[in-house]
Amino acid sequence: MSKEINTIGVLTSGGDAPGMNAAIRAVVREAIVKGKIVKGIKRGYAGLLQEEIIDMRAKDVSDTIQRGGTILQTARCMEFTTPEGQQAGAEICKKHGIDGMIVIGGDGSFRGAQKLAAHGINTIGLPGTIDLDIACTEYTIGFDTAVNTAMEAIDKVRDTSTSHERCSIIEVMGRGAGYIALWCGIANGAEDILLPEKYDYDEQKIVNHIIESRKKGKQHYIIINAEGIGHSASMAKRIEAATGVETRATILGHMQRGGSPTCKDRVYASTMGAMAVDLLCEGKTNRVVGYLHGEFRDFDIDEALAMEKEISEYQFQISKNLSV
Ligand code: ADP
Ligand code: F6P
Repeated sequence: MSKEINTIGVLTSGGDAPGMNAAIRAVVREAIVKGKIVKGIKRGYAGLLQEEIIDMRAKDVSDTIQRGGTILQTARCMEFTTPEGQQAGAEICKKHGIDGMIVIGGDGSFRGAQKLAAHGINTIGLPGTIDLDIACTEYTIGFDTAVNTAMEAIDKVRDTSTSHERCSIIEVMGRGAGYIALWCGIANGAEDILLPEKYDYDEQKIVNHIIESRKKGKQHYIIINAEGIGHSASMAKRIEAATGVETRATILGHMQRGGSPTCKDRVYASTMGAMAVDLLCEGKTNRVVGYLHGEFRDFDIDEALAMEKEISEYQFQISKNLSV
């Protein structure tokens, strides 16, 4: 028989993402409606090990749904990757009466959640990352806001790039994942998109492409470069020298992680937050919530972590055709 959960803990871990507050708010309020006690753990697993645990009531999440960042703060914590750290974390949960835990973060955070579950704390993961790089879900909390923020910024760079007839290399976030770059590349009509998953490091191809597009009369040349490839400033110098076209690099950086979440991020994060509580109330553990084929679903964390995600070859190909 599954155990009944009385006290639910919630933490955010890894890189923050807009919409995490909407998820926390939903966890707190759905749990209260279901008669549970809620505790917030500050600074992810680092705060858990430091026992930075606070009571959360309905009013503690007032006025937060529209705010970027995470009211619980977030952190990366090496100590929690060790068996000793994980055992200590589980014992601290038990000491504070936390028998259910909701972890909002990316793949790394889910590995931590998996360990808490193995130590007897019923644990549910929510996909919180602007990178969209979680295989079991077509949606991650924060991606929609981040791509919209980046898209608006790139539109602005494009205006000045056109006026000056320049080439602009715009670097977007994504160390290992090119989803932000691909989406912005399509949404902003970029001439080239460099993704960590696809880039062949053939700069001469880009140079030739720029020269051809100048001959066709194109006034600007936008290259969206993913953080994982990086080196935008030195790439700009080399491209300018090889093409004779003035080239500037802009690194959008952490502005992509902030700001008020979009409607989609608020609604999906709220739904996922409430669903995580409902799963705990049903006695579920070691699950992660995702959105796949048009519905919110839950997956076994071990299976979710074993899945692989690939950039759509079709979207990558058409992105080239559409910028012809
Ligand atoms: P994300 O959750 O966004 O992928 P990280 O990979 O930085 O971000 O992971 C966030 C935190 O999750 C790490 O700082 C660490 O505390 C925890 N974590 C990552 N990998 C593991 C692991 N294998 N076992 C336990 N905890 C982990
Ligand atoms: O995982 C989200 C993310 O923003 C990545 O796109 C980026 O590579 C990384 O976090 C940056 O992390 P930090 O905040 O440590 O610079």
